[in-house]
Amino acid sequence: MSLKISVIGTGYLGATHAACMAELGFDVIGVDIDAAKVAALSRGNLPFHEPGLPELLRKHVDSGRLRFTTDYAEIADWADIHFIGVGTPQRADGHGADLRFVDSAVHELTSRIRGSALIVGKSTVPVGTARRLRGIIDTEAHSEANIALAWNPEFLREGFAVADTMRPDRLVIGAEGGTAEALLREVYAVALAAETPLIVTDFETAELVKVAANAFLATKISFINSFAEVTETIGGDITTLADALGHDIRIGRKFLNAGVGFGGGCLPKDIRALQARVSELGLSHTMGYLAEVDEINLRRRERVVRLANSMLSDKLVGARIAVLGVTFKPDSDDVRDSPALDIAVRLFNAGADVLVYDPKGNNNAAERFPRLHYANDLPEAVAQADLVLLLTEWAEFKALVPADLEDVVAERRIIDGRNVLARGQWEDAGWEIVGMGQHHPPLDGEL
Ligand code: UDX
Repeated sequence: MSLKISVIGTGYLGATHAACMAELGFDVIGVDIDAAKVAALSRGNLPFHEPGLPELLRKHVDSGRLRFTTDYAEIADWADIHFIGVGTPQRADGHGADLRFVDSAVHELTSRIRGSALIVGKSTVPVGTARRLRGIIDTEAHSEANIALAWNPEFLREGFAVADTMRPDRLVIGAEGGTAEALLREVYAVALAAETPLIVTDFETAELVKVAANAFLATKISFINSFAEVTETIGGDITTLADALGHDIRIGRKFLNAGVGFGGGCLPKDIRALQARVSELGLSHTMGYLAEVDEINLRRRERVVRLANSMLSDKLVGARIAVLGVTFKPDSDDVRDSPALDIAVRLFNAGADVLVYDPKGNNNAAERFPRLHYANDLPEAVAQADLVLLLTEWAEFKALVPADLEDVVAERRIIDGRNVLARGQWEDAGWEIVGMGQHHPPLDGEL
C-alpha cells in the first residue's frame, strides 16, 4: 500500500514538497495554520510564483491525491510520515533562528499521534534542534505512540524548486535507528534509482550539512564581490577573473558572479543564524569570517547607491531613476532581503524619484514599501529616466539592447548591477554604462 504523507507548512518548501510527493504517487495532505493559504491551495491556486509548480498543484488537487487542511487532527494518525517544512525566520532581535513554528508543529503532532509515525524535519534549523525535539517527543508522546524522528534537509532553490525536489544533487538523512531510513528510502525511491547520492548520518551532521552549504555559497559570492571592490579601485575585469578561476575544477565557476550581492529567505538569515549558534556554543571566533561575508554583501548595496549619485553628478535628489528588478533573483516573486529592493528604497530615501518595475515582484514589494512607485511594464519604468538600474537579471532585462531604451529615457545612463549586458554595445550607442567590478573614480562624499 502506498505511503500516506503529511507536509506541515505550505510555503516555498512545503508546497513544493507536497506537490512533488503527490507527483511521486503518494497520498498527501498539506497542513498550514493560515486558513486563507489553505483555501487557495485547496482550489489549486499557488500563492507565490514558482515555475512548474502551479501545474503540478492543480493536477494533483484535481486528481484528489493532494489535499490541504488547517487541522492537525486530520493528519496525526492518517499519515505514515509527517514532513515539517515550516519557516525558521530570523528572530526579531536579529540573533539566531526563531524556532517557534518547528516546535509548535512537533508539539501539535506529538500530542495527537497514537500509532506509529515518522516525523521528518526539512526546515533549516540550528545544530542541536533535532536532538532537543527528540527529547520533547519522548516526554510528550502518548504511551501507545511510537514516533521516530529524522532530519532530512532541503536544498531546493527558488525558481528551480520542482526540479531540485524531484532530482536533488544529494539526499541527506540524519536519523537514529533504521525505521526512518527504510521509510525515506521508499519515499525517495525514484531519485535513488537514478543514483542520487544518499548520505545517512546523525542528527547533528544532517543539520550542519544544510547550513554549511549555504555558508559556503554565501562566502563564494562575497569572495568574488571582495575582488570586485579591488577591480573597481585599480581596474581589471571581474567576469574574466571569475571565468579564469572557474576553470579550476576545485573552485568551479558557479556562484562567482559579482553583482549587488545575495539576498532571499535563506542565505542571509542562515549565515546569521549559524554565527549566533556557534556563539552560543562558545565558538564565536570560529565563524568570524561570516560577519565579513555579510558586510561585504551589504557594501554592494551601498556601492550602487553611491555609484548612482556619482553618475548623476551628485544630483540624486529629484532625479528620475528606473529600477529594473526588485526580487532577490529572477524567476521568483520573493523580495525577502532583496538587494534590489533595498537599493530602490535607499535611493527613494535619499530623495530620488524612483520608479520600480519587476515582472513578478511588484506586488510583494508594494506590500512592504507602499510609498515606492511601481510601473506596470518596462517602457513605463524607463520613460524619461535620468538613470536606469538593472538589479535583477530577469530574461527580459538581459535581452535589452540600447535601441529599446534610447528614445524613451531622458539620459543614456545605466548601471548593470548583475553584469549581464554587453557593455561595448551600449558604449558604442553613446551610453554611460557601469557594471559591478568595473573601474570607476572613487565614490567618496556624503549622500
Ligand atoms: C539558496 C540555496 O542555493 C539553496 O540550496 C537553499 O536551499 C536555499 O538558499 P535560493 O535562496 O533560492 O537558494 O537562491 P540562490 O539561487 O542560491 O541565490 C541566492 C542569492 O545569491 C540570490 O540573491 C542571487 O542573486 C545571488 N547570487 C547567486 C549572486 O549574487 N551571485 C552568484 O554567482 C550566485
